[in-house]
Amino acid sequence: MKENIIIFDTTLRDGEQSLPYSLNSYKKLKIAILLEKLGVDIIEAGFPISSPEDFKSVELISKTIKKSKVCSLARCIKNDIDISANAMRFYKYNSFRIHLFIGTSDLHIKYKLKKDFKDILEMSIKSVIRAKKYTDDIEFSCEDAGRTNIDNLCFIIENVIKNGATTINIPDTVGYTMPLEFSKIIKKILNRVPNIDKAKLSVHFHNDLGMASGNAITSIQYGARQIEGTISGIGERSGNTALEEVIMAINTRNDILNFKTNINIKKIYDTSKKISEICNFSISPNKPIIGSNAFSHSSGIHQDGILKNRKNYEIISPESIGSKKQNFNLTSRSGRAAIKFYMKNMGYSEKLYDLNKLYKNFIKLTDIQGRIFEYDLESLAFTKNFYKESKYFKLINLEILYKYNIENKILINLKIGKNNKKKIISNNKNIIYSIFNLLKKISKIKMKLKNFISKSKIYKKNIIIEVNVFAIYKNMKFYGNKISSNFIESYILSLISILNSIRKYKNIKKIKKY
Ligand code: KIV
Ligand code: ZN
Repeated sequence: MKENIIIFDTTLRDGEQSLPYSLNSYKKLKIAILLEKLGVDIIEAGFPISSPEDFKSVELISKTIKKSKVCSLARCIKNDIDISANAMRFYKYNSFRIHLFIGTSDLHIKYKLKKDFKDILEMSIKSVIRAKKYTDDIEFSCEDAGRTNIDNLCFIIENVIKNGATTINIPDTVGYTMPLEFSKIIKKILNRVPNIDKAKLSVHFHNDLGMASGNAITSIQYGARQIEGTISGIGERSGNTALEEVIMAINTRNDILNFKTNINIKKIYDTSKKISEICNFSISPNKPIIGSNAFSHSSGIHQDGILKNRKNYEIISPESIGSKKQNFNLTSRSGRAAIKFYMKNMGYSEKLYDLNKLYKNFIKLTDIQGRIFEYDLESLAFTKNFYKESKYFKLINLEILYKYNIENKILINLKIGKNNKKKIISNNKNIIYSIFNLLKKISKIKMKLKNFISKSKIYKKNIIIEVNVFAIYKNMKFYGNKISSNFIESYILSLISILNSIRKYKNIKKIKKY
């Protein structure tokens, strides 16, 4: 029988405390609802003593959440515990959890708390007894356990369990320990604490040395039954254990990890995307499981291998976590197999085009634009000299007149075709849509604005602004990407590049598909 691993999510507490600005209670509630739908067992909703808004968030979340258990954090201080319990007073579906913590390493005791171990033991016991007045579900964390003397660690655990702690959490607060080293700590706790069977053993890692997920998996193999972490691993410094990594490791390596969780893995992708949007926290492309590159294949050998059998290079299917299908990056590293695959997907049989010629032109175009998209392939296959950059639409001049609260005028001077020159004037405050609509009108191309991303950086005292625009034309996605020192210029140049791509695409000889 598979043993259940309790998933304790601390995105709203350890994760949120690491963001450059705090989330308001409504954003936190939105995240809690997503976590509940994902199926996490326990939601650590916040640290109510830390601010009135955090108190409000815990209150709001415990009023709303039904299926997951709600938990809130408290130091081993009477007022913290009372306020923590008060914030969860509306939670009626189950007993709420109070999560107590105190530093137990010599370093924390001496330099942070300026006390001795005897004081820490006394504060811990008193706090468990106080929390017990409010709930029978008490988690006790020995902060910096990874660097705590093992005798002290076992002694304090034994005593807090004796007084009513029901979950014992062993945090590696500074991400210092190695998996084998941590497994020895777990083993010693299980062998030396006589009443350990009266409590659940939990682990909590930080990722300073990149060991968080590895440590979490090793810990469950050695007897821990609760894992704490956050969605996408957000948290102090290099973050906490990324829950999606541990959950998918259990799921993927069930041959050696005989465990299960209550997580609905199909919701992982969507949940992480929504949470990162709410937190305004971008997920790095190579982040395991949820990064935009996690299911992309770039090299020709890999793309060919995937097409022959996805298992060649894919240990998890993107569909299993609710992500879109696996995709290929079409670059100079791609081979004929990927090109054929995309052409087939667009409905073109190999009889309709010359694969070798298409591949040769494809490589030429990668030299110009780095990455190739579906519409480029189609155009390359059926239009002569497509790989040459089109300058049909060209920006000749741009004037931007801006007077604070008085005038906002943009004059665009455009060349269309060989001799045709056109002037466009935008004096709408909504410059993104206004410029888009004017260019759409003048080009007679019925495209729709799909997405707009702008990034800026300072390079050698110059500001560089990159704009990426995504437009839809006849159900195809077209991309424009330009860089300049002016935001409006980058935007207009990106749009002009899209217009040129669409025009080339429109000129493809109408080929009968399958
Ligand atoms: O990292 C840590 O020690 C913590 C505790 C409060 C559990 O976050
Ligand atoms: Zn932590």
